[in-house]
Amino acid sequence: MTTSPRPDGFRGTTITGTGMYVPDRILTNRDLESLVDTSDDWIVERTGIRERRIAAPDQASSDLALIACQRALAMAKVDAKDVDQIILATTTPDRILPSCACTLQQKLGATKAAAFDMFAACTGFVFGMGLARGLIGGGVSDTVLVVGVETLSRIVDYTDRNTCVLFGDAAGAAVFQACEAGLGLHAVEMHSDGELGEVLEVPAGISRNPASEQTVAGREHFIRMQGKKLFPFAVRSMEDATRKCCDRAGWSPSDVDMFIQHQANLRIIDGVRERLGLPTEKVYVNIDRYGNTSSASIPVALDELVRAGRVKPGSRVAFAAFGGGATWGASTMTWTAPVPTTSEMAAAGAEGHAS
Ligand code: ACO
Repeated sequence: MTTSPRPDGFRGTTITGTGMYVPDRILTNRDLESLVDTSDDWIVERTGIRERRIAAPDQASSDLALIACQRALAMAKVDAKDVDQIILATTTPDRILPSCACTLQQKLGATKAAAFDMFAACTGFVFGMGLARGLIGGGVSDTVLVVGVETLSRIVDYTDRNTCVLFGDAAGAAVFQACEAGLGLHAVEMHSDGELGEVLEVPAGISRNPASEQTVAGREHFIRMQGKKLFPFAVRSMEDATRKCCDRAGWSPSDVDMFIQHQANLRIIDGVRERLGLPTEKVYVNIDRYGNTSSASIPVALDELVRAGRVKPGSRVAFAAFGGGATWGASTMTWTAPVPTTSEMAAAGAEGHAS
């Protein structure tokens, strides 16, 4: 393996804490058999999904995100008041106005943080990694909280077997802070192609097709998807973006210790793994338990791996995602310890003067 530390003078950016939350209610494949014409066998064989979580009626996305963020901040030993930015990736905010991120900011008590939503569908967390790296690497921010959260059950049509078997609700978060240059995030790829927009859409509800009795009657506020068209695109785009990020890290794909892909379909995950020549033990899979949780799927997987000790200092980790828009991206990072934030260094400096 060759390493190539970035020569551009940027600070390194790493993840210092992760957290996740999934609602208690489990919707199994057997449960879905009573809603639509499907079977446990078909769902497991075609997608790898066995069950997914569904938010309680009184839980909105900000409620799920709050718990994931509190857990991530606790692991990072960061006070919510010290967060500079909250980037909330979602397709299912509490409301269109105010942003879900601002609602979360208030609940967290992150009074200093600038908070905004990002709509990049399932690639949202990877795009969030790119933004966090820019903000921290460029010296704009010391602490960026990125959270992917979805209550997709609110926009899934439980009369449509093409989609309702796939999606679930969850939140995953990560705290990004500065680290030694050359460690932490090595590369982030971020891409979009609006030509593929109609392959996965919610047709009505905002400016193009405002809510009306007709749109409600036509079930136009639910997800519609041409899954077959997305499948080959997903495999090709994730492979390509991952290879580019490995190149920029100075790695070959076989140098990756753990590969965390968006959990959309086990056959897609396997397809990308095979093209990259990776063994199954290097590719994390939890789609059987949660289904496709869109922007939450990567940070949920990451948190499970970190807490299980399977991602630890020195681990070389690759991430890849694709989603509606279309959007896709990838990143590579070496898991590492943080360096003190500029405010910590200033405080230490002040203490030094006092003593
Ligand atoms: N149960 C039983 N049969 C079903 C079901 C179901 N739940 N869903 C579809 N079928 C039927 C279809 O109607 C079709 O029947 P027909 O041949 O009589 O028309 C047959 O099964 C085969 O359908 P295909 O679409 O060919 O099935 P495929 O193997 O492609 O699997 C799937 C469908 C799972 C949707 C797959 O294409 C896929 O995963 N695509 C990617 C989708 C995806 O990842 N979307 C999320 C993007 S991320 C984001 O931004 C939210």
